[in-house]
Amino acid sequence: MKLLLLGDIVGRPGRNFLTAHLSSFVEKNKIDLVLANGENAAGGAGITAKTAQEIHKAGVMGITLGDHVWDQKNFNNEIDGLDFVCRPANLPSTNPGRDRLILEVNGTKLGLFTVLGRTFMGPKVDCPFATSDRVVNELKDSCDFILVEIHAETTSEKESMGWHLDGRVAMIYGTHTHVPTADGRILRGGSAYQSDLGMTGPRESVLGREIDACLGRFKDGMPRKCPVAEGDVGMQGCLLQVNQQTGLAESVELVNWRESDLPG
Ligand SMILES: [Fe+2]
Ligand SMILES: [Fe+2]
Repeated sequence: MKLLLLGDIVGRPGRNFLTAHLSSFVEKNKIDLVLANGENAAGGAGITAKTAQEIHKAGVMGITLGDHVWDQKNFNNEIDGLDFVCRPANLPSTNPGRDRLILEVNGTKLGLFTVLGRTFMGPKVDCPFATSDRVVNELKDSCDFILVEIHAETTSEKESMGWHLDGRVAMIYGTHTHVPTADGRILRGGSAYQSDLGMTGPRESVLGREIDACLGRFKDGMPRKCPVAEGDVGMQGCLLQVNQQTGLAESVELVNWRESDLPG
């Protein structure tokens, strides 16, 4: 089975890019399933039911979230109605929303969940390593394979999670930094790993936000709004080939597709 995994979708430019171009990419590359992190989909911070549905309609079958999960103020009331969306699994259990997704494609069942890292991250969450052990154990008998997203700031915490789950899941992949890493590979136990998928949004930016505002904040320390940028929009992530019999990875390949790569 071939999957396209996409990094954080940023704002309207990210959503519009997927609506306009995802289906042709999927067709051309014979992709069975598309997953993405949607934590920055609405105005760059959080997600709403409306934006989640827009992304779903564009062809993203499963949407994960991160530390910005509750940034849009009514989303806690909307998330339970969205069966293709899950919130991080190691948030307090009283938080609304599904903590995992089980998706079925042509008779193959895939389990998917996200854990938040704890180093340089805001939310107070349970141990991501213990949580991932628990959820993998709960999913392994009912799913043909499992994917685990580690939404975290540091590459060391992400890479540690990769080795922790190696051989038990098809892939461990990172999100949150909005910058793709060039370390995609198959680990010794057979799981694919990439520290960060990058983002789906405008790259003439600082992590998807307007350059002058972000730069100004660093230069003079004054607070200012950092709106979502517009230029050089594209999608970043990876193409993952999974062996459904073993539940492990066969290959993983970086995806970095931008408007300037489009035909015509
Ligand atoms: Fe993000
Ligand atoms: Fe994040």
